[in-house]
Amino acid sequence: MGCCNAFSWVECIISVFYPSRLQRQQVTMRMRLKLKTVFVMYFMVSFLGLIYALMQLGGQRCDCSDQELSKDQQIAQLKGELQKTQEHIKTSELNKKTDIPRIYVITPTYARLVQKAELTRLSHTFLHVPQLHWIVVEDAPDPTQLVSDFLSASGLSFTHLHKLTPVDRKLQENDPSWLKPRGAEQRNEGLRWLREMGAAAKGKEVAALEEAVVYFADDDNTYSLQLFEEMRYTYRVSVWPVGLVGGMKFERPVVEDGKVVRFHTGWRPNRPFAMDMAGFAVSLRSVLTNPEALFDGNAQMGFLESSFLQHLVTIDDLEPKADLCSKVLVWHTRTEKPKMKREDALQKQGLGSDPDVEV
Ligand code: UGA
Ligand code: MN
Repeated sequence: MGCCNAFSWVECIISVFYPSRLQRQQVTMRMRLKLKTVFVMYFMVSFLGLIYALMQLGGQRCDCSDQELSKDQQIAQLKGELQKTQEHIKTSELNKKTDIPRIYVITPTYARLVQKAELTRLSHTFLHVPQLHWIVVEDAPDPTQLVSDFLSASGLSFTHLHKLTPVDRKLQENDPSWLKPRGAEQRNEGLRWLREMGAAAKGKEVAALEEAVVYFADDDNTYSLQLFEEMRYTYRVSVWPVGLVGGMKFERPVVEDGKVVRFHTGWRPNRPFAMDMAGFAVSLRSVLTNPEALFDGNAQMGFLESSFLQHLVTIDDLEPKADLCSKVLVWHTRTEKPKMKREDALQKQGLGSDPDVEV
């Protein structure tokens, strides 16, 4: 049986079952027809498969437009990163500039729910200020982990101190906020550190300290960047308006013929320096040459600022800044105490927020 193609093989097998030639021919014909049908079906299925695959490819073209969109987003993102890097370079270039006076900012701070949020906001402002050294003084018996970690990660030049306010001077949970001065011991601790540094300084450092400036920045106020450039060149004590303070839109030193003559305030205008802590900066030289200048933690309400300033200047010596005290560049904002009603209720059920998560 010299069978050499598929049909011959088929014919061979058929010949076994159908000995009659006519029968064999009929069966073979039918089988050929069936095979043809199979081939046609196979061809059609493949063709349809091909069309389907092409349609899928067409669909992917829509994905391409998505990709184009995400490319735009990627470009925007990269532009943002470039801008940030440029700003960072600009700030660090300025920071490298040692020919501008350094600003020492003293901030008292104490543990409470909003502390990290306040410090975060403040540090982000300071990151934009060249030649700034932040002296953070915790009202605590020891430095806390939260503030230590926070400062290490802040990217700022800083000194971390602590000084606990004695119980008899400390405002208690339910006391009205005006009852006792706040932050006095901590500011004094910052001044002590500055004086110690001043005493240890040698050579070139002395000249740099001579022209530096000291500012007392509470952790809850809002500071414009311009404010720091206003205070940078301070001979003894520079002053400016403070917004949203003392039940007023602003308080400010009143300037006549370039000199401060009195204070615009709605409350106790007879105070020697009727100004908020945020409204002045002093030269480091004044701080170093007047070691008795400190904050009186027992000062009467509203007299804390005066208790310090009266050691340094008279009203005549004040240097008005911010366009002769016509611009508000700092605001005495106060943060609302967060309510913990739901947290307390959940805690009673053992379902409080994870205490291991730092807030
Ligand atoms: C106002 C002034 O803006 C403050 O500079 C001044 O110290 C205060 O009054 C006062 O008369 O003693 P106010 O908003 O009432 O400020 O005070 P806070 O912002 O509550 O406290 C001032 C600073 O002291 C803040 O940086 C705060 O973190 C810190 N502080 C407050 C402590 O270190 N310990 C405390 O127990 C409370
Ligand atoms: Mn405050």
